[in-house]
Amino acid sequence: MAFQEKTEKNVWLLSGVLAISLLVAGVVEIVPLYYLPDTFEELTPEEDNIRPYSALELEGRDIYIREGCYTCHSQMIRPFRDEKERYGHYSLAVESKYDHPFQWGSKRTGPDLARVGGKYSDEWHHQHMMDPKSLVPESVMPRYPWLDTAMVNAGGTEAKMRALSIVGVPYTEADYAGAAAAVDGKTEMEALIAYLQVLGTMVNFQEGKDYRQ
Ligand code: HEC
Repeated sequence: MAFQEKTEKNVWLLSGVLAISLLVAGVVEIVPLYYLPDTFEELTPEEDNIRPYSALELEGRDIYIREGCYTCHSQMIRPFRDEKERYGHYSLAVESKYDHPFQWGSKRTGPDLARVGGKYSDEWHHQHMMDPKSLVPESVMPRYPWLDTAMVNAGGTEAKMRALSIVGVPYTEADYAGAAAAVDGKTEMEALIAYLQVLGTMVNFQEGKDYRQ
């Protein structure tokens, strides 16, 4: 009996062969990442502005996740010319280092949002969330008018920040102390816009530098 046929007919042998293949494939994929300097950080101080999200941005991020914006929007620009021309510099791993969970994705019913920060005014975003068609008549994006009246729950922000610190986000005691006050009285719309406006603004890309070296 050929080895393949034997393997297919014996569940234990199949599991064993599968485990070995996955192990080898995993090592081949993952180990090189630890030896590439730019996997985590390869930015000069002038370029690296990467910081944890502020309390308000963090609340906005949670609303982004809750509302399922990621089901239509990726936040990962691939290193291809057409993507670069449309969205800007391709994404670096280090940009997501404080993202738990990251929002990369590949579903693009709407455009990638990795560089949307600063592209529009806060008023534009507000109008767009209230009624996308009023700005982009052909838009299929839903309206999110309730965000304009729902208030951020300031009682939970500090706990969220403390939870993130467990997985390595370097929040400080001052961040915790100021968390509730920073989001108190803010609408969910304001929080979401604060989050959108920071996307892609933490790295100051140097023209002509190859970040993949
Ligand atoms: C059903 C899919 C869908 C969902 C869900 C969705 N969007 Fe969109 N979004 C789109 C489409 C399509 C566009 C492009 C047309 C437009 O600008 O309205 C867009 C455009 C945008 C833009 C403008 C991007 C640019 O560069 O012009 C922003 C910002 C945005 N969406 C944010 C959000 C946020 C925040 C949420 C969640 C609250 C969300 N979207 C949910 C489909 C979606």
